[in-house]
Amino acid sequence: MDDLREKYLGLIAGAADEAALEALRVEAVGKKGEISLKMRELGRMTPEERQVAGPALNALKDEINAALAAKKAGLADAALDDRLRAEWLDVTLPGRDRRAGSIHPVSQVWEEVTAIFAELGFAVAEGPQIESDWHNFDALNIPGHHSSREEMDTFYMARAEGDDRPPHVLRTHTSPVQIRSMELQGAPLRIICPGRVFRSDYDQTHTPMFHQLEGLAIDTDISMANLKWCLEEFAARLFNVEKIEVRFRASHFPFTEPSAEIDFRCSWVDGQLRLGEGDDWLEAGGSGMVHPNVLRAGGIDPEVYQGFAFGLGIDRLAMLKYGIPDLRAFFESDIRWLRQYGFRALDVPTLRAG
Ligand code: PHE
Repeated sequence: MDDLREKYLGLIAGAADEAALEALRVEAVGKKGEISLKMRELGRMTPEERQVAGPALNALKDEINAALAAKKAGLADAALDDRLRAEWLDVTLPGRDRRAGSIHPVSQVWEEVTAIFAELGFAVAEGPQIESDWHNFDALNIPGHHSSREEMDTFYMARAEGDDRPPHVLRTHTSPVQIRSMELQGAPLRIICPGRVFRSDYDQTHTPMFHQLEGLAIDTDISMANLKWCLEEFAARLFNVEKIEVRFRASHFPFTEPSAEIDFRCSWVDGQLRLGEGDDWLEAGGSGMVHPNVLRAGGIDPEVYQGFAFGLGIDRLAMLKYGIPDLRAFFESDIRWLRQYGFRALDVPTLRAG
């Protein structure tokens, strides 16, 4: 028994980790452990022998168990010490301010327009950027041969060879979300959809990817007057002025009838844009009453419901509101530009006032 004690106490003291310790426990006092087997031999002893060996074996077993428990606690402490040493951090060091990022003007204006239209009762809807040809064109009353398919400078996705279904497109506008919202929610409906759109076009005022804000309201008593009020209310709140007059200019879109170009009243004073006053007009986007064919494509009865829709350029709104001259710089990720025009993440007085 002295040999056993010496052997196991030595092994326990030298165990490197909890797994080794557990193996030792099984070997010594587990069901088929060396000490447990010895205890079984008690039955074959004479009563006198048993009286001496029994208590001694029990004491040895207790001693080994106690040593195992003590070593286990020691190993856990050592592991914690190691972690504390490894994860040491000097919290008194100053923060690294230079690494703070900034909010991109597009994200900023995206938030602002969303907040304004939320106050006007519009929910935010979304749709895929890779869109079916049907949602992007056909359902919006743009037939297969229509010239605006070319005007839109569409990016077509490739199909596998032999697959002659119409290809998907990178959506050329956010208007397909009109159809998706009608399909999903039916009427009445009041949504906006801020999102990315794509056209194969690149110059000072065009980038192949840009951002639009779609608006759609459908009910049984919707008119162009409602559309005009919403746009005036929106523009005044976005540009923080008392009032901005909106002018409708007759236009044509396949998905609206009648259709109108949206202009905001403005003036230029010393090269600075003043919105809401003056004799000039600023083009802001397209709009109109939703075409009956579009309502039908979305599963809505045009005999009962009608609606207005509009599309505005978010990047353009950002340029106007924050006086940013070149659209292309928006997407060049130049750190100096981002520092100049970016917004501090936690320094925004209100969502829409910027
Ligand atoms: N989808 C049109 C465009 O991208 C804008 C628009 C939206 C016009 C809704 C009318 C109604 O040019």
